[in-house]
Amino acid sequence: MAEQPKTLTTASGFPVSDNQNSLSAGPRGPVLIQDFHLMEKLAHFNRERIPERVVHAKGAGAFGTFTVTGDITQYSKAAVFSEVGKQTDIFLRFSTVGGEKGSADTARDPRGFAMKFYTEEGNWDLVGNNTPVFFIRDPLKFPDFIHTQKRVPQTNLKSPTMMWDFWSLSPESLHQVTILFSDRGTPDGYRYMNGYGSHTYSLINANNERVWVKFHVKTMQGIQNLSASAAEKLAGENADYATQDLFYTIEQGDYPKWKMFIQVMTDEQAEQFPYNPFDLTKVWPHGDFPLIEVGILELNRNPENYFAEVEQAAFAPANIVPGIGFSPDKMLQGRIMAYTDAHRYRLGGNYETLPVNRPQAPVHNYQRDGYMRHDGNGGAAPNYEPNSFGGPAQNAQYDEPPFPVDGVGDRYNHREGNDDYTQAGNLFRLMTPDARARLIENIVGSMQGIPQYIQERQIEHFLKADPEYGQGVAAGLGLSISNEVGAD
Ligand code: NDP
Ligand code: HEM
Repeated sequence: MAEQPKTLTTASGFPVSDNQNSLSAGPRGPVLIQDFHLMEKLAHFNRERIPERVVHAKGAGAFGTFTVTGDITQYSKAAVFSEVGKQTDIFLRFSTVGGEKGSADTARDPRGFAMKFYTEEGNWDLVGNNTPVFFIRDPLKFPDFIHTQKRVPQTNLKSPTMMWDFWSLSPESLHQVTILFSDRGTPDGYRYMNGYGSHTYSLINANNERVWVKFHVKTMQGIQNLSASAAEKLAGENADYATQDLFYTIEQGDYPKWKMFIQVMTDEQAEQFPYNPFDLTKVWPHGDFPLIEVGILELNRNPENYFAEVEQAAFAPANIVPGIGFSPDKMLQGRIMAYTDAHRYRLGGNYETLPVNRPQAPVHNYQRDGYMRHDGNGGAAPNYEPNSFGGPAQNAQYDEPPFPVDGVGDRYNHREGNDDYTQAGNLFRLMTPDARARLIENIVGSMQGIPQYIQERQIEHFLKADPEYGQGVAAGLGLSISNEVGAD
């Protein structure tokens, strides 16, 4: 027998006798202002929206478990890696980047791959993408880059011209652009793609020794992509294709899994590395820095409520745990500030106390008050430090090893003496002839119709990565390549 429904109430708990008819003066109205149920209902409705994420607005998420399968305690003392078999609760959110909250899941765009590990020493957030590199290497360029992926101020339309204008003037983007227009630019939902921490981070072991690290999270479902035409068709037919796939696959008990690996680089190797090991536009070749298995991520529980758990989730590269640290990567340094700032704007100052963000580790600090404080606010405990009343105190056990920093403060031209072409070319060369043809076709499709001088400027970059790459795009656009193009 169905349960007796609970009595509907206002937010203050007042039982509602009629949720169909407003209180009015006579059957034809007008309505009476004393109908506080009506007023509350309309007013709360007006406040349902919060700002969407400025990037990665469209996404889907799920809970699960991380299980350690490989011993990396020689590199990291992090509790999350402490022993083979160790399990930690996780929450993952996948997303597209440039589109708004209602945009199509199948757009050609990198995919966000944000991971939250609820460890006993606090939350570790690995806020990655499905690509190992990024379009830019200086955080100063992030708002400029993202503006080109969003809408033109006047028309409110997307513009391939502004995208290719920016990319052609920013050769550091070439590696990521090559991935974006390859088959992996349109993954078949979220289950069939890899995730990458992308940045160089550091690991610190029990002896307080540091190594540099990159994180890789490889799909155990196998890589599967949509053809460009299937992705376009789905964008019209089912804009929520990936969201739907993730939710219902988990609902049916078919739990997606990824295997986590690390690549490790010592200080000595970093000195020898032909590139800046902290440059986000470069990978560390697998041949030189082999993948070391760490564990398995499994998603096995859907959120109960999308807004509470997915929309209000706050992932921050600043969230590290003892045993995992940062690196000098300028982009990572910029992100350490940007995300927590975004969360305070988007969710309010007490966002870490929301259930999806709340650490499973004990939290003891002197932060008090602020909008929507709902957790007791520290009760009667002291709100200053040092104090004589047993309040939480610092613990030198968690000192990170010092890191050397030197150099003259200046604005260094990151485009000088940087090889933006070899790794992009390597990627092109490892593709099958068919995959190369599709890459070129996708690029030509996107560049068609933009001003010719921008096409030519970008083709120079493709030519420098690989002559076949540049010639293919030029031919597709009906341009002949002059002898000077790509000559240096
Ligand atoms: P490897 O041959 O050892 O690795 C090549 C990698 O390329 C594999 O991880 C493969 O992923 C991945 N790959 C294949 N097709 C694509 C694509 N369309 N988009 C993105 N990745 C793809 O060579 P190296 O390590 O020397 O790297 C060569 C190039 O491979 C790099 O310049 C980079 O562009 C790309 N790459 C390298 C990665 C790294 O960390 N070293 C990571 C990802 C890409 P899978 O095994 O899953 O099929
Ligand atoms: C989301 C900034 C580069 C992955 C965001 C958000 C901001 C931001 C402000 C919204 C956060 C929120 O409202 O919750 C930046 C800046 C960057 C940068 C300033 C460079 C300087 C990157 C890179 C990656 C990345 C390199 C991946 C390697 C993500 C992901 C999300 C996100 C996955 C969505 C997180 C979620 O699911 O909630 N970024 N970003 N970003 N960013 Fe970045």
